[in-house]
Amino acid sequence: MASIAIIGTGYVGLTTGACFSHLGHDVVCADIDEAKVASLSAGEIPIVEKGLDRLVDEGLRSGKLRFVVGAAEASKDAEFHYLCVPTPQSADGSADLSYLETAAAQIGPVLPHGSVVVNKSTVPVGSTRVVAKVLGRSDVAVVSNPEFLREGTAVNDFLQPDRVVIGSQDQEAAIRVAALYSRIAAPIMVTDPVSAETIKYASNAFLASKLSFVNAIATLCEAVGADVSDVVLGMGYDRRIGREFLRPGPGWGGSCFPKDTRALARIAENAGYDFHFLNEVLRVNEDQFGRTAQKLIEAVPADMPDSHIAALGLTFKAGTDDLRDSPAIEVLMRVTAAGVKVKAYDPAVPPERNRLSEMYPDLDIEIVSDPYAAAEDAVVLTILTEWDEFTWLDFDKLAEIMAGNNIVDARNLLDPTIPRRRGFNYRGVGR
Ligand code: UDX
Repeated sequence: MASIAIIGTGYVGLTTGACFSHLGHDVVCADIDEAKVASLSAGEIPIVEKGLDRLVDEGLRSGKLRFVVGAAEASKDAEFHYLCVPTPQSADGSADLSYLETAAAQIGPVLPHGSVVVNKSTVPVGSTRVVAKVLGRSDVAVVSNPEFLREGTAVNDFLQPDRVVIGSQDQEAAIRVAALYSRIAAPIMVTDPVSAETIKYASNAFLASKLSFVNAIATLCEAVGADVSDVVLGMGYDRRIGREFLRPGPGWGGSCFPKDTRALARIAENAGYDFHFLNEVLRVNEDQFGRTAQKLIEAVPADMPDSHIAALGLTFKAGTDDLRDSPAIEVLMRVTAAGVKVKAYDPAVPPERNRLSEMYPDLDIEIVSDPYAAAEDAVVLTILTEWDEFTWLDFDKLAEIMAGNNIVDARNLLDPTIPRRRGFNYRGVGR
């Protein structure tokens, strides 16, 4: 079993560290935030991620997982060094590499001879070379090993991946990294670093394109009178298309797709190729936010301008508490800009811990602690995130407490016959 340092305890780093310790490796995770290190050492997990608390607890108990302050402290005795720091989007759409470069500069002087540095963060094509240069260590290999973790199912995605991609110029280093995954049953693909980095961006941009396509098909379905649920079912039977990522919605979002799609367009541009297809994928997504907002604005009766909309769901998808680049927020920004009032409920955003006002200070909405508190006296109810609990809404109660009868289901979560039977006007996406 190997000794692994994980630099950065965000959702990628923490999941990677906890899963590697579960596979039997000795893992030390480093972060710059002392308070975070203390709470992680006490087994407190700062994010909602299914199964992660159990793995962290298991690692802490067995002594195979530790948390320390500072990258150098973690790296000084390890054989593998996973860089899992953020690569946020900078003003021009490209990825900001400052965290990555700082981490590399900190560990460079302390790396044991012959160890391997692994880029796990989503980094622009060519970053493996950048890291190698900052490290300045000819005795240390730098390898790309991109993550394909979805929030909410990250532990499962790590332990049961569709594939493991390793990009390395150095065959021996690639084989050593591959051996870390020997207890995982998945194809392991070894390629050069630039191809590995491109695989990561191309995968996310392809999935984002698939979603923009399906959202455009949903708009077409509304125009021609087709039902998108049947259309995607019929498409998904074709194994070349597949069933996944065919659910239309209010637009796609999250911490990866928007950032990575924009970054790939920028990478292409810098390399002299105008990847205008991706710009169109992004534009279709913006249109989808606008179209969803327009449905909501139109659903507010003109003679009730002071009434409000009940918005159910704020996170970018169900199963996570992440609000970054959430389609729900994009839609509500547009709705409130048109002067419509909003009361919102989300099971992962309790009003007593309102993170929304810090992240989106311009978004003026009220957050309440249950769906019926949002719906009371509302003229419209909308579902913006597909939390399972919204499928169990009591429509008799909603009919009693709401001031209007419009439902806009931006996730096609509900069976339309149920609200319609209670006298609601139901509008979904593409049906
Ligand atoms: C994504 C990638 O899936 C993962 O491989 C990568 O490493 C990180 O980015 P994540 O951001 O957690 O993962 O979310 P994902 O489940 O992919 O969903 C992204 C967005 O697409 C969400 O807003 C989601 O609601 C939307 N979506 C997804 C749809 O609208 N319809 C679908 O059918 C699937």
